[in-house]
Amino acid sequence: MNINEFREEIPSLKQNRNGYPPVYFDNACMTLKPNNVIQAITDYYTKFPACGGRSRHWFTREVDERVSKSRAKVARFIGSKNPKEIVFTRNTTEAINLVGHAFDFRKGDVVLTTDKEHNSNLCIWKDLEIDKGIKHRFVPSNDDNTFNLNRLEAILREEGGRVKLLSMVHTSNLDGYTIPAKEIIELAHKYNALVLLDGAQSVPHKIIDVGELDVDFLAFSVHKMMGPSGVGVLYGKYDLLKSLGRYNVGGDTISNTYLDKSPEYLPPPMKFEAGLQDYAGMIAAGAACDFLNKVGRRDIDLYEMELNEYISDKLGKHEEIGIIGPENPRERSGICTFFIKKPTRLDHKEKMLDERLSDRYNIMIRSGMFCVNGWFNQKLKEGKINRIWFPAFRASFYLYNKKEEIDLFITAIEEELERLKEVPIF
Ligand SMILES: Cc1ncc(COP(=O)(O)O)c(C=O)c1O
Repeated sequence: MNINEFREEIPSLKQNRNGYPPVYFDNACMTLKPNNVIQAITDYYTKFPACGGRSRHWFTREVDERVSKSRAKVARFIGSKNPKEIVFTRNTTEAINLVGHAFDFRKGDVVLTTDKEHNSNLCIWKDLEIDKGIKHRFVPSNDDNTFNLNRLEAILREEGGRVKLLSMVHTSNLDGYTIPAKEIIELAHKYNALVLLDGAQSVPHKIIDVGELDVDFLAFSVHKMMGPSGVGVLYGKYDLLKSLGRYNVGGDTISNTYLDKSPEYLPPPMKFEAGLQDYAGMIAAGAACDFLNKVGRRDIDLYEMELNEYISDKLGKHEEIGIIGPENPRERSGICTFFIKKPTRLDHKEKMLDERLSDRYNIMIRSGMFCVNGWFNQKLKEGKINRIWFPAFRASFYLYNKKEEIDLFITAIEEELERLKEVPIF
């Protein structure tokens, strides 16, 4: 991969701060945007900033044509042969909420997740326990945070047909681990359960083929794949999308309405895309697919693993650092999350470590629980992690990061460890 060539196409990398270029290691949260994506957005607002669908003038026709080309690109990007299987949403969160609300759940139905779901794939099921009487269960991971297929099968057997949906994070934003989706889906289908994959951290980084996986639903966010924020995707097998109930209704979801009877609804995807949309974002989603196709997701995947091996090797030399997830960095894709097993502030008035790295070296990482509070709280409860270690830190990579950036990051961390050397390790 020609990293420097790709970096040239990302304007936000070209601004120094305190003499340092940005070292952007917060890609699991959001990725940077290349020129072709920015151009697609600018074209919409400068050339044809009108509604899609409703009018007949050429601005609208241009919008419609570009949105439908983009929908087809997104479909191809994940291996779907039918663009009507692509529903544009605001983000992964909305895509999962859509399924949660529109699925025909009955009291006592079971939804299974992993134990390290993003809040986007946990709150909804906890709420539906109260609202619809479903039951949420999770499959406990192995000690190294990998997936346990035997435990899954045991739960499926134990629930005897009550599991209606498995909604699972494909690649974890906590530790970068990717679950064995194909085996999980085969097993779920054997027990007549459907599978929704949260692909927020997999689709941007790996080749995903929904046909080959035979997955029923797939949710992801375009802002994590170099596209604009505010656009997400729900893929669903077409007949399943048709069988879902409604989620958000109004203009554009109907063929006709009456004052004295129920509306006539359009088929998917229109049935779910209510109201005027983020057309610039939808169009730019296709531009993001173009960019990633040019780079190649197989190469992205391999390159991120190489970066993770590089950083894990250097961080692993320090006894006070504990990396979360499988020991083999190649099983953690481009995400390296770690604890420093001691307080990282010498007094409470000091800025947090990640803020200090940003101020001093222009290095951007994330700290906290990364919206995977359920896992952290469970591990605290089980005594497997120590409250004193908080917050955790996460460096997450993408195709434009470089080993030299990791070197600077390691220098910065080692300076911190030196500063903290009198503080005991817990
Ligand atoms: C695994 C995973 N699922 C869901 C989400 C939620 O994505 P969004 O905030 O775009 O809806 C994220 C975002 O960080 C994520 O990493």
